[in-house]
Amino acid sequence: MLTFLANAKINLHLEIIGSRPDGFHELVMVMQSVALADRITLRPLNTPTIQIQCDHPQVPTDSANLAYQAVALLQERLPHRTNQKGGVEITIEKKIPVGAGLAGGSSNAAAVLFGLDILWDLGLTRVELQELGSELGSDVPFCLAGGCAIATGRGEEVNLLYKNNSLHAVLAKYNSLSVSTPWAYQTYREQFGHTYIPVDRFTSLEKRRARVHSGSMVQAIGKKQSQAIGSNLYNDLEKIVLPAHPKVALLKSTMTALAAQFNALGTLMSGSGPTLFTLSETPEQAQSMAKALRQSVSDSDLMVYTAPFTAHGIETLS
Ligand code: C5P
Repeated sequence: MLTFLANAKINLHLEIIGSRPDGFHELVMVMQSVALADRITLRPLNTPTIQIQCDHPQVPTDSANLAYQAVALLQERLPHRTNQKGGVEITIEKKIPVGAGLAGGSSNAAAVLFGLDILWDLGLTRVELQELGSELGSDVPFCLAGGCAIATGRGEEVNLLYKNNSLHAVLAKYNSLSVSTPWAYQTYREQFGHTYIPVDRFTSLEKRRARVHSGSMVQAIGKKQSQAIGSNLYNDLEKIVLPAHPKVALLKSTMTALAAQFNALGTLMSGSGPTLFTLSETPEQAQSMAKALRQSVSDSDLMVYTAPFTAHGIETLS
């Protein structure tokens, strides 16, 4: 039996550049792992079945679960190396909110790929695992790498950045509110498709990607300039999700005001939301802000977490 921590991610930068021939969006993102983790346990089974158990009612335990799909993908692509291995029981103890823009499902799939490589002695490299992972979801390759990275293409092309910014995130999400990622991107396309760089103009696309690569956020991360990291937070999908969910827009105003009061660094929505996060420099400041946020929003539906940045995507516990 093997147990892993599968960390969540936040987006410090999410920029939508244009459409791709595969129907997805061309993105430039800066991703950061945070130590808010699901616990994934893999137990070998003698029978060739895939069983999933999860303590969260909204998480599917059948083939709709990315963790299930991760096992099936390994079995399909590596039949000779997997067909003598039997099946696996996967237990998911959920801490990462679901439908939250924190890559919870992707990190679970990443942990299963990483874990089965060990359990079944498959001998795959990180790059091979990431290539397989990209077929399951755009964020899976980053979840396998962890730390801080620029992610381009669909989000699956991961280039690691400096890993040693030790900031803290205060994360907030209304429990009953989830956002569908396909809906967020589709609505963005409807409203902002006219601003997309045409796919045939590769030079412009490369130029724009290059501008972000050397952009202010990446520089701030490299130079460990916390204030500049805070002031350069950016997410195109806020333009869709905040107007559609006024409650989240109001929460962002509240968190922004509290961040100013606590001298924190800045507030942003992660991924396709609706989770919002505020960055702070110390754990004490993050705890104080989280407490103040719970007090100022008297709604039992609001979940507030604090989590430090971490250099790890998947961590082996035993
Ligand atoms: O890759 P993932 O499964 O996370 O993507 C979920 C959905 O988000 C896709 O089906 C697509 O609608 C949208 N998406 C996109 N462009 C990306 C990533 C995701 O349009 N680069």
